[in-house]
Amino acid sequence: MSERSHQQTGRTAAHDSAFLRACRREPVPHTPVWFMRQAGRSLPEYRKVREGIPMLESCMRPELVTEITLQPVRRHGVDAAIFFSDIVVPLKAIGVDLDIKPGVGPVVAEPIRTRADLERLRPLEPTDVPYVTEAIGMLTAELGATPLIGFAGAPFTLASYLIEGGPSRTYENTKAMMYGDPQLWVDLVDRLADITAAFLRVQIEAGASAVQLFDSWAGALAPADYRRHVMPASAKVFDAVAEYGVPRIHFGVGTGELLGLMGEAGADVVGVDWRVPLDEAVRRVGPGKALQGNLDPTVLFAPRQAVETKTDEVLAAAAGLEGHVFNLGHGVMPTTDPDALTRLVEYVHERTAR
Ligand code: CP3
Repeated sequence: MSERSHQQTGRTAAHDSAFLRACRREPVPHTPVWFMRQAGRSLPEYRKVREGIPMLESCMRPELVTEITLQPVRRHGVDAAIFFSDIVVPLKAIGVDLDIKPGVGPVVAEPIRTRADLERLRPLEPTDVPYVTEAIGMLTAELGATPLIGFAGAPFTLASYLIEGGPSRTYENTKAMMYGDPQLWVDLVDRLADITAAFLRVQIEAGASAVQLFDSWAGALAPADYRRHVMPASAKVFDAVAEYGVPRIHFGVGTGELLGLMGEAGADVVGVDWRVPLDEAVRRVGPGKALQGNLDPTVLFAPRQAVETKTDEVLAAAAGLEGHVFNLGHGVMPTTDPDALTRLVEYVHERTAR
């Protein structure tokens, strides 16, 4: 099959899946479930295939990416797969000197602080990430009617790693640039928007059925600053992929005060962490958008009965929504019992079967 017919086949087969129907706010046979970070960390079969292979290298091996992406689909029967990669992969692909340090996260050798530093960020071409196109081609062939979610980091979250040089709790250098040199800041996030849009386009062209933009750390911002300094760049990303008609999901942590703006940026589905119940989230987001979330990931450490009670609370709060994709409020924690995840998928499917 040609590459184009592969991607068509993948998306056509998945078109009527519960996940894509919920994203489009259409009736569903059951509430679809997937988990952020379902591919990786908590699974022993993941740790086994990753043994001795550094994180970024593993993202560049299509067979390995395919296997890791499929593992949670096989094991848990989730309603969607999420492509195994990382938000810093496109930055690495354009030559940014960065690494993923075990137990730390992304570390950038020379942080971006000046206009001269900015020149190191060149545009991303599809030929920079051939391994992404190859892996997604293999995946959509294997997945059949199960949709594949592509993803990227949003400009603010990527900028925070590039400016701080690694993970941060305060984002002091990031905010110093945002407030102190707004022109440099806007040029930086604009470049990142183009890189992110190009990375999402590669994934959609290769056959991804939906995309999620992770602005994981946007919750550090007040709404007025988000609207002024961040939202235009994220909106540029959403606009750039609108023509494909695939659902666009927008997620961040601690973003209760930003939910309306994150929808307004151009998302079809707004991801909600566990701090705001979904019936309140829908008031903040307004009509015309589906919601995704939002069981606290630490609930999975409690006994089965407690997990079911907390899940019932999420489902009750979601009862009035037009479209609901069940997920955790953030990623699966590494020490989560995988069987608790499998049971949770079954439980949501049973409780919501129509
Ligand atoms: O933790 C794992 O699942 C193992 C593989 C791994 C990933 N990223 C996969 C990933 C590792 C070691 C990383 C490094 C990394 N990158 C970290 C540290 C992770 C840790 O806890 O040790 C962090 C914080 C990053 C940066 C990053 N990557 C962010 C902020 C996000 C957005 C999602 C989030 O958690 O807020 C990512 C995306 C990401 N990294 C995904 C995967 C498989 C995709 C999203 C998903 O599966 O939900």
